[in-house]
Amino acid sequence: MKHPRICVVGSANIDLTFRTPRFPQPGETLTGHALHQGMGGKGANQAVAAARLGADVTFIACVGNDAFGKTALDAYVAEGIQTSFVRRAADQPTGTAAILVDNNAENCIIVVAGANAGLNSRDVRAASSMVEQSHVVLCQLETPVDAAIEAFRLARDAGVLTILTPAPAEHVTDELLALCDVCIPNKTEICSLTGQTVNCEADAIRAAERLRERCVKRVALTMGSDGVLLLDDSGSTHIPAIKVDAVDTTGAGDAFTAAFATSLADGMSLTESAHRAAMVAAISVTRVGTQSAFPSLKEVNEWITLNVHE
Ligand code: ATP
Ligand code: RIB
Repeated sequence: MKHPRICVVGSANIDLTFRTPRFPQPGETLTGHALHQGMGGKGANQAVAAARLGADVTFIACVGNDAFGKTALDAYVAEGIQTSFVRRAADQPTGTAAILVDNNAENCIIVVAGANAGLNSRDVRAASSMVEQSHVVLCQLETPVDAAIEAFRLARDAGVLTILTPAPAEHVTDELLALCDVCIPNKTEICSLTGQTVNCEADAIRAAERLRERCVKRVALTMGSDGVLLLDDSGSTHIPAIKVDAVDTTGAGDAFTAAFATSLADGMSLTESAHRAAMVAAISVTRVGTQSAFPSLKEVNEWITLNVHE
């Protein structure tokens, strides 16, 4: 069987998830229910989620020369990810995220970039042959924008599909957007990129149209339990989210993006890919943690057998 080849350029973090009844007020100390330590970072999340779905994944990243960095690398290798282009920085700690998840499954996240901030265009060029042989290149912006621009330039020249998670949105540049074939923002990110808040479907279409005016070819706006709005030359399509009991939505966007990319690389249409990605993301929100929540291809197929009736 032919495997989709996906190259991911981006962050690797250790996620410390604190379960709490509600978010604290400034100056308040709250007692939480539980602590979960796992692997995260938007780049690593997308790499792991795609690998679990059967893709051949190359990850271009930078971790610290510390215990967290070793744990992260070992975990990626165990997922079958090509890690030759994950650099270990001598002088910086591995990126770390403190994540609060409340009883409504909402989250607040603080990320300290650490080694992620050192990823650069040389790191990407060192992996140029992997970028050029991929079906899809995925970038996010927890690592420097120069690395993402280099990856998208190499990909564009080689005819490889480029997909951007524009998070954090403050790092997005016009140069990067012009190299982007598909942009997958959430509601907060698209508001920051276009000035358009999203409270209803008409707002979502307006926001996606404004993003397309910034030279992005196709937009997949993720709206949590309100689903996804797709916009391309042929118009807009709303894909509803799948109804599940969510316990932790952290990384849902990354699960969605990885599944969307893998499906597009497999030859599915934009709409088919979004339906499949919505399933993968829905499964992930029913489980605690980030990478620990991402399903394998076998689990997705079992879920479809149990839940999808034609
Ligand atoms: P995160 O930053 O937490 O990784 P995000 O804000 O980037 O997530 P969302 O828009 O919240 O991404 O979610 C991405 C996709 O995941 C949604 O479009 C939807 O398909 C699915 N999803 C998210 N939350 C839920 C939910 N409560 N129920 C079902 N599906 C969900
Ligand atoms: O998208 C979720 C991710 O954001 C978490 O894994 C955390 O590490 C932050 O990067």
